[in-house]
Amino acid sequence: MRVVFLAPSYPPEMQEYTRGLAEVGAEVYGIGDSAPGSLPKKLRGYLTDYLAVPRIMDERDVVARASAWLHGRSIDRVLTNWEPLVLLAARLREAWGVPGMSVDTVRGFRDKQLMKERVAAAGLRVPRSRRVTSPSEAWAAAEQIGYPLVVKPIAGAGSADTYRVDDPKELESVLARTARVPEVSVEEYVTGEEFTYDTVSIGGRPAFENVAQYLPKPLEARSEQWISPVIITVRDLSQPKIEEGTALGRRVLGALGMGDGFTHMEWFYTPGGEAVFGEIGCRPGGAHLVDQMNYTADVDLFREWARVSCWNSFEGSTQRKYNCGIVFKRAKGNGRITRIEGLGDWLERCGPWVMDEQLLRPGTRRRDWKQTLVSDGFVIVRHPDWDACKRMAFLAATDITMYAE
Ligand SMILES: Nc1ncnc2c1ncn2[C@@H]1O[C@H](COP(=O)(O)OP(=O)(O)OP(=O)(O)O)[C@@H](O)[C@H]1O
Ligand SMILES: [Mg+2]
Repeated sequence: MRVVFLAPSYPPEMQEYTRGLAEVGAEVYGIGDSAPGSLPKKLRGYLTDYLAVPRIMDERDVVARASAWLHGRSIDRVLTNWEPLVLLAARLREAWGVPGMSVDTVRGFRDKQLMKERVAAAGLRVPRSRRVTSPSEAWAAAEQIGYPLVVKPIAGAGSADTYRVDDPKELESVLARTARVPEVSVEEYVTGEEFTYDTVSIGGRPAFENVAQYLPKPLEARSEQWISPVIITVRDLSQPKIEEGTALGRRVLGALGMGDGFTHMEWFYTPGGEAVFGEIGCRPGGAHLVDQMNYTADVDLFREWARVSCWNSFEGSTQRKYNCGIVFKRAKGNGRITRIEGLGDWLERCGPWVMDEQLLRPGTRRRDWKQTLVSDGFVIVRHPDWDACKRMAFLAATDITMYAE
């Protein structure tokens, strides 16, 4: 089993997938833009060979260099778990005749408007939306869809340039702020709670399923710096509300022609009891969501993803034992972290339920909270009982304070 794996060292969790591939018996051929000498020693042990390319986003260049490098060696899989490279992986598959999702299928997971069109064509509920390229088109779309609205870039990530718009006055100012974005989507604002639906799938059928709740929803978490965003995996997927989302999610996988591997979907649960599609990627969620899923079921999804991708089999546990919460912290002030208050008490109170604690230590420079969800670090807790898990997570949100002043 020869696997080309794109970006095996960056983002850092990709090293875990590389390990997984090696552990299930694949020969791993890595392609990335990190210099070979900079790869961690452990990672090098999992790689059969590595090609460093100058520009990993330059698709034509990477296809040409990789083809020359392989020199006729046959390849069985081309894989990636990093969103910006999912189309490149599909291009390489098509160029070399390797099985897996086609470029057209992957576009359905990449282009937000196309994605919504395909999901809606399957009779599933998506927000009403229009793709617009000028202010006059935006005004016409707003008229048609009605307020409140969301205005966001077609090729967005990390809630950048995403705004809620409640009336024409706000639309005017948001259009001024998004003037440099070439193409935006004007959407119906869906009220309600927001969740993920994550899978590791074989031929579009989930071998592992997960739901997590955003507290609060990402758009709110990213508009106020004082918020400590919390995300909790839901242990009990058999609640009627959650089942609305998993049922929607399974049908979305079918509508988009999902193949093998991770998916990460976002959906809303409205006050009227309806599950509404948000967006989906054919890759895992970021910001340690895979760690949370691993803690939820005591499973190693880094390895099980590899087994699914190479051998179409999943051997991990799917029994959900815990709700698992992550809490991201943002320091007060700018510059370097000076102190952390409340951490010792919190660790003591939560005891054995704490799974991880990676807050930036004093002396470290603060991160830009708008750029990274992980912000100035995080803690992870789990508990079999939802309320207990949520209490510990919210306690970390309110009682741990980081200072950079
Ligand atoms: N139609 C909508 N109705 C209500 N809220 C929305 C809508 N579209 C987006 N949002 C909010 O904005 C957030 C970001 O939107 P979306 O997920 O489409 O963009 P993104 O930039 O890809 O985000 P990320 O990379 O964080 O997943 C959503 O998580 C949700 O909170
Ligand atoms: Mg999103």
